[in-house]
Amino acid sequence: MQKITIAIDGFSSTGKSTVAKQLAKSLGYVYVDSGAMYRAVTLFAMQNGFIETGCFDKDGLISQLDHIKISFKFNKDLGFAEVYLNEKNVEKDIRSLEVSNFVSPVATISEVREQLVKQQQNFGKDKGVVMDGRDIGTVVFPDAELKLFMTASAEKRAKRRYDELIERGDDVSYDDVLKNVQTRDHIDSTREDSPLTMAEDAIKVDNSSMNLKEQFEFVLKLSEDKIKSIS
Ligand code: CDP
Ligand code: CDP
Repeated sequence: MQKITIAIDGFSSTGKSTVAKQLAKSLGYVYVDSGAMYRAVTLFAMQNGFIETGCFDKDGLISQLDHIKISFKFNKDLGFAEVYLNEKNVEKDIRSLEVSNFVSPVATISEVREQLVKQQQNFGKDKGVVMDGRDIGTVVFPDAELKLFMTASAEKRAKRRYDELIERGDDVSYDDVLKNVQTRDHIDSTREDSPLTMAEDAIKVDNSSMNLKEQFEFVLKLSEDKIKSIS
């Protein structure tokens, strides 16, 4: 069977990474979480004093981009690749609400995007990749054979993300998570460089009332049909 590229874009907490991981496992493809890369750059900026309350030293961060090495290593127990920042596993650290609150401003920086997009395109050069993010179908892989655009109501998405953060032991409020989701949606959709938009040839998947199983079955069928149609 011929391998394809599957691009999954959409708003925060729409279930992109969950479905992308399931798809990759089921098709024997590589999964790449492009958002984790923007989060890792944000963590680097926070750890190195480029982001402090009320102050973001963009030029300082840009000057250090050569010192940021992001890699993924497959964790057999988890069944997916975890993200490493300069050889340190940061999979948990990058998911905090604090990183979520700074990541969208970091992702507006063209120098950051240029560097990460190059690396993402390299990950997908042999096809057989499922990548999720905001600009995968529009910028990273404009020729992807299958493009999905995931959406759901902001309240539903915030509740899903809130439950996830509480489960891992973070002390957050639902209102703060909802505010983060709405703020990121706004920044991501209105930024100048590579804004979040639905590619013309993407299929829209509104999963407000789909559970994880229904969502996966729906998307797997789309993928299998596409692979069959071009093999
Ligand atoms: O998982 P969630 O939807 O909350 O976010 P994510 O996929 O981890 O992405 C975090 C942030 O990185 C987004 O809100 C965007 O600001 C940025 N991002 C981006 O600009 N382009 C991408 N391809 C992926 C993420
Ligand atoms: O990657 P993205 O930010 O789009 O979302 P995710 O991390 O895959 O999903 C966010 C949370 O919503 C996870 O806890 C999922 O299990 C949950 N979710 C859900 O309960 N039902 C869906 N249809 C989609 C996601």
